[in-house]
Amino acid sequence: MSTYAVTGAASGMGRAVADQLRTAGHTVIDVDIVESTVTADLSTPAGRRSAATEVLERADGRLDGAVMAAGLGPAPGRDRPRLIAEVNYFGVVDLLEAWRPALAAADRAKVVVFASNSSTTVPVVPGRAVRGFLDGDLEKVLRTLRPFGKQAPTFAYAASKVAISRWVRRTAVTRGWAGAGIRLNAIAPGAVLTPLLDKQLATPAEAKQIKRFPVPIGGYGDADQLADWVVFMLSDSADFLCGSVVFVDGGSDAWFRADDW
Ligand code: NAI
Repeated sequence: MSTYAVTGAASGMGRAVADQLRTAGHTVIDVDIVESTVTADLSTPAGRRSAATEVLERADGRLDGAVMAAGLGPAPGRDRPRLIAEVNYFGVVDLLEAWRPALAAADRAKVVVFASNSSTTVPVVPGRAVRGFLDGDLEKVLRTLRPFGKQAPTFAYAASKVAISRWVRRTAVTRGWAGAGIRLNAIAPGAVLTPLLDKQLATPAEAKQIKRFPVPIGGYGDADQLADWVVFMLSDSADFLCGSVVFVDGGSDAWFRADDW
């Protein structure tokens, strides 16, 4: 049986993944701002440091895998772009960098990061913000997003997901993670019915946008089905999967960029 760290395990898809892993007999170290095995606020550097350290202590220096599901949606609010940037990008990168030796200590460790199909379906995501993320420069990200005003959270969200997808692809193959035996991949869901989406649907302006968004299959994704995909991506059957971003989104990504190959 294996040991996995799961962030965002108190709700939605992270919770569904943690439940499935525990039911299969694995040990899950869950991390969330809501009371969990490791309770931490991933929106601050100190919270990320304490989460990273506590997980390593509990895992005894060896992790068979990690699932990075903690995330914030693009709700309104002045401080929201910063929170989105800190949790959705730095809350993934800082923890995984700290856990890399423990992942390398396991045999064929697997990591799944929650990206989003916003990374390919939101138009004109500012490249400067994406570069700010990849440079580790939070202030540059926030400066770039400021002129977007009320739309800043939407672009912060999309930029955080573009950046984390690029980080996954670069890190998986060009920074020695594959060579260390670690499979690093991302899943890019479309709209999935979780508390995150429920909050967006409760806001009339956001609900209108979500309902108008093209989903060829129709409807919303199911958290347990998304968890099935993640658990598969953690399994031995996914040994040859490396640096991939797997879209599970009812066809929206294909709708927007069928010929983009
Ligand atoms: P959710 O809101 O149900 O769960 C997110 C979890 O992250 C919660 O348990 C929350 O407490 C935790 N979290 C938030 N801020 C935190 C912080 N500062 N420190 C520690 N934990 C924190 O969301 P859902 O829908 O399950 O989302 C999971 C991931 O999937 C997120 O990264 C999200 O961006 C992504 N995603 C979700 C989609 C959807 O339609 N639900 C679509 C595409 C991507």
